[in-house]
Amino acid sequence: MKHFKLAFFALIIFAFGWQTLSGQEKVTSPDGKLELTFEVKDGTPYYSLNKEGKPIILPSKMGFTLEWRDDLAHAFVLKDVKFDTFDEIWEPVWGEESQIRNHYNEMLVTLEQPVGSIESMDHSTETKATVMLIRFRLYDDGLGFRYEFPMENALVYFWIKEELTEFAMTGDHTAWWIPGDYDTQEYNYTESKLSEIRGLYDAAHTGNGWPWKSFSPTGVQTALQMKTADGLYLNIHEAATLDFPTMHLDLNDETFVFQAHLSPDATGYKGRIQTPCHTPWRTVMVCEKATDVLASRLILNLNDPCVLDDVSWIHPVKYMGVWWEMISGKNTWSYTDEYPSVKLGETDYEHAKPHGRHAANNENVRRYIDFAAENGFDALLIEGWNIGWEDWYGKQKDYVFDFLTPYPDFDLPALNKYAHEKGIRLIMHHESSSSTINYEHWLEQAYTLMNQYGYDAVKSGYVGKIIPYGEGHYSQPINNHYHYCITEAAKHHIMVNAHEAVRPTGLYRTWPNMIGNESAMGTEFQNRIKPGHTTILPFTRLQGGPMDYTPGIFVTDMGKIVPWGGKMNITICNQLGLYVTFYSPLQMAADFPEHYAQFMDGFQFIKDVAVDWDKSIYLEAEPGAYIVTARHPKISSLNKAAEGVGKLADGKKGVVNSVTRFVYALPDDATADDLKNAEPRDVWYVGGITDENAREVKVKLDFLKPGVKYEAIIYTDAKDASGIPGDGYNPQAYTITKKKVTSKSVLKMRMAPCGGFAVSIREM
Ligand code: NOJ
Ligand code: CA
Repeated sequence: MKHFKLAFFALIIFAFGWQTLSGQEKVTSPDGKLELTFEVKDGTPYYSLNKEGKPIILPSKMGFTLEWRDDLAHAFVLKDVKFDTFDEIWEPVWGEESQIRNHYNEMLVTLEQPVGSIESMDHSTETKATVMLIRFRLYDDGLGFRYEFPMENALVYFWIKEELTEFAMTGDHTAWWIPGDYDTQEYNYTESKLSEIRGLYDAAHTGNGWPWKSFSPTGVQTALQMKTADGLYLNIHEAATLDFPTMHLDLNDETFVFQAHLSPDATGYKGRIQTPCHTPWRTVMVCEKATDVLASRLILNLNDPCVLDDVSWIHPVKYMGVWWEMISGKNTWSYTDEYPSVKLGETDYEHAKPHGRHAANNENVRRYIDFAAENGFDALLIEGWNIGWEDWYGKQKDYVFDFLTPYPDFDLPALNKYAHEKGIRLIMHHESSSSTINYEHWLEQAYTLMNQYGYDAVKSGYVGKIIPYGEGHYSQPINNHYHYCITEAAKHHIMVNAHEAVRPTGLYRTWPNMIGNESAMGTEFQNRIKPGHTTILPFTRLQGGPMDYTPGIFVTDMGKIVPWGGKMNITICNQLGLYVTFYSPLQMAADFPEHYAQFMDGFQFIKDVAVDWDKSIYLEAEPGAYIVTARHPKISSLNKAAEGVGKLADGKKGVVNSVTRFVYALPDDATADDLKNAEPRDVWYVGGITDENAREVKVKLDFLKPGVKYEAIIYTDAKDASGIPGDGYNPQAYTITKKKVTSKSVLKMRMAPCGGFAVSIREM
């Protein structure tokens, strides 16, 4: 009774306090076009979003259901509202431009569940109020909001059953979606109306070759790109996901309301929380043009600034790999067929009979080093160098790799020495087979080994089911694992490119040693990739961060490599276009040296193209159809590469790479001394890609400096080229022309079905 009286009194005070607030609290974007409204109705928080008076998000619920306690979904009163505004320009360590504007208006609402209004864990009444804040940030191109829980709170430790955040759409929008999944994003996208998702779900789910477990027949992953009937581009994603599970979306296809669906841990919880803390940002991008989605930095801006004091060791990388041999099936990662199972430390590899298809052998690796060095690359990835690959896949084997012991035919010290003499760094490979505890166990020694021999980048991987058993790839503890690897790597000055890890949410702003991720269907899926896939990824997967898509396949008919190989839906010029349309500071030339050797004139574009930019212009785009992009290289990062950033372990400086040579108009054998006296030219690269439809685009070069003469080298699909497998399949037909151009020129570019184009433009 005493409690009840207190609660009643408190309620009156809160209710009175609430009356002084307007009831509907509003904040607008800096340009005044987007307006967010927040209100508490019958104790439940709601938000909605309008653009110039037109609804974008209808009133949508917010909150959480909890384990062992009443939900964070009702009995709320609005206690306080604070406003703020912020405007800064910051410089990323690497990126699509050298300066990013972070300009938003903020509204912070404080909500309380008053004492006595809620049943607590032990079914007694809590003696403190439960406090939940919601921070909204409104940008010209969208909204971010997150939940915050201060330490002074009835809730200090709690367990989330589900997040209740809704995103109520205004209609049956078109969406580019992949099915919800706790383990993989390696899917083709489906383009459909929201109302069609249910009917198309099974096909979308099994289309990648293996059906994983789905949580709902209308569950989809983010970043989810949509288009409204009146042509607005909406995109739902999340930013800065740390110590929290990944968010999927579950659609009610009668009301078109999405509800957040968090990835559970092995016991079914969706976040174990300790205050003070906050959730990741939930984001809704609203753009009038498709190209504005590509230009948006909403996700990055919502992440915290870089926490590393010294970033001099972080640099862009163009690399080749002893890799496609394994993916294509020509060769393999393992060394021997002699044993039905291998045990590290027990299996005798020294005396094992090699099966003869081990790609990471000394001779083959040297061949790749030679080619990469001759062509001015920075690095070479080698997979299958370490013992354990005989039963790496699908066994749920705990102690699968030690990440330290090379196969007998891989001389790690000698190969690093050989590579460094030629100015090439080797990229380390750590396939964890998703045995995360084993990987953490070896991590310190593995990174130390890398430091010892001068590896400064690692490609890690999470193929198969996660160990600890029952975990998925995106639960809170496993997201924490990925982050642990990044922070430990930073201590060792190591850059990380993780495959099959959680899809990124812009964390690379804070941790720029996270230079790549896969987390989507990349080139390794070969002929299973649908046309147009790469025109969707920059709208979806790449919103959170760059992808190691591994482009550059020139021999696209895999039947020429192995009898069972299929034909890929691409042309050589489509592959060239990807180096510009797809942003990544880590770009691979994925095909074999002997394949590039057949097309050295086309390969020249891959050598010349930069991988880090100070300006990017998105000229034309439509998800699922085409993208045309122009980019200007960042000269400071070129200089970094030329100085042999971080130096190789043996003290040797890196050589001048091919991009630097192109930008400074230097010969192929230029040295660091030649570079000292050279001036950079003004250089631009333009790239285009298309789906199965041929297209013609007019590229206005009005971004060039007026009154300056440039030479353009234009790589286009030949008239009879086609990347569509079938009778007319002609993926390797291209033409190269040189042309004098100025800022007044317009290039008419034709792309073949599944084709593309690339242009490098250098001041004369
Ligand atoms: C899957 C990765 O995506 C691929 O690049 C790698 O070669 C294999 N796992 C083996 O680690
Ligand atoms: Ca993969």
